[in-house]
Amino acid sequence: MRALLCKELGKPLVIEEVKSLQPKTGEIVIDVKAAGLNYPDTLIVQGKYQFQPELPFSPGGEVAGVVKAIGTEVEHLSIGDRVMAGTSWGGLAEEARSMATNAFIIPDRMSFDLAAVSCMTYGTSYHALVDRAQVKKGETLLVLGAAGGVGTAAIQIAKRLGLKVIAAASTDEKLSYCKETLGADLVINYSTENIKERAKELTGGKGVDVIYDPVGGSMAESVFRAIARNGRYLVVGFAGGNIPSIPFNLPLLKSASIVGVFWGGLFRNEPQVNRKNFEQLTTWFAEGSIQSHIHAEYTLEQVSEAMEEILGRKVKGKCLIKI
Ligand SMILES: NC(=O)c1ccc[n+]([C@@H]2O[C@H](COP(=O)([O-])OP(=O)(O)OC[C@H]3O[C@@H](n4cnc5c(N)ncnc54)[C@H](OP(=O)(O)O)[C@@H]3O)[C@@H](O)[C@H]2O)c1
Repeated sequence: MRALLCKELGKPLVIEEVKSLQPKTGEIVIDVKAAGLNYPDTLIVQGKYQFQPELPFSPGGEVAGVVKAIGTEVEHLSIGDRVMAGTSWGGLAEEARSMATNAFIIPDRMSFDLAAVSCMTYGTSYHALVDRAQVKKGETLLVLGAAGGVGTAAIQIAKRLGLKVIAAASTDEKLSYCKETLGADLVINYSTENIKERAKELTGGKGVDVIYDPVGGSMAESVFRAIARNGRYLVVGFAGGNIPSIPFNLPLLKSASIVGVFWGGLFRNEPQVNRKNFEQLTTWFAEGSIQSHIHAEYTLEQVSEAMEEILGRKVKGKCLIKI
């Protein structure tokens, strides 16, 4: 089978013919139809991610396709099932392995393309908002990097849960996409506006109940200062590059919490919680009340181009890789 390979960290990726995969205990092998590309894929090929697979490896943290083989101790899936799955890496290939517990049946009316770009971002954002922040209907959510992968999923899930959403991003074009296409209620352009002042203004001085931060960097402290009493600041990622530090007096003064979010930790350690989350998400996908937005389609040969788009902050929604 053909696979995109990282043979040396930070060097160009290559496509090669490699051996067909066999599932291990608790795993399935998927005949991949399409894969989603995410910011973590750009890190893993540079050796900058939390996990570092042995070289050579295929990047690719999520796929959609048809179950081709099943390992022992897999009960809920059969050969021929249409599935979407989180793979951590290995998705940018004609065959991919996944833990069966992190593979979910695709609703009938959902295409492989939409399913391929939905696992990681919706799995992460649902876990963040529901399990970690325990959001309540009527609360206000501020989403940073709102037009990106996890940000777009956070907006849609929050709207489905009855929250008021303030989308924050770096350009007006991204913000009109968040408002008009995704349904955000209010917007802040953090390149031209003071995000702390504006977030307070938009909440009548009260501050924001929940902050969803996949960006990190120098903005974090000022954003934290716009949090409401009993607020929750969700630490999702550091696309801005730097891991921020926050003075401990700030959560004290607001009785606010800094809450870590790690979807990879959830599906490895608490697969039953992740599974319950996906029961809800796939119901919403089936009824069409949430849906991924595809920025552009690429082939395996064009993955580096798609990675450059992500790193250049040009993507609205998700990059789809057709296999
Ligand atoms: N915790 C978890 O379980 C989990 C799961 C998945 C992803 N993540 C993390 O979440 C973050 C976002 O992932 P994603 O796939 O949603 O990424 P994405 O689609 O590229 O979106 C990231 C957003 O961050 C903003 N940004 C600010 N500075 C940036 C920079 N220097 N380079 C790139 N983007 C920058 C961009 O929006 P503006 O231009 O509007 O600022 C961009 O839209 C990453 O750090 C990723 O590792 C965490």
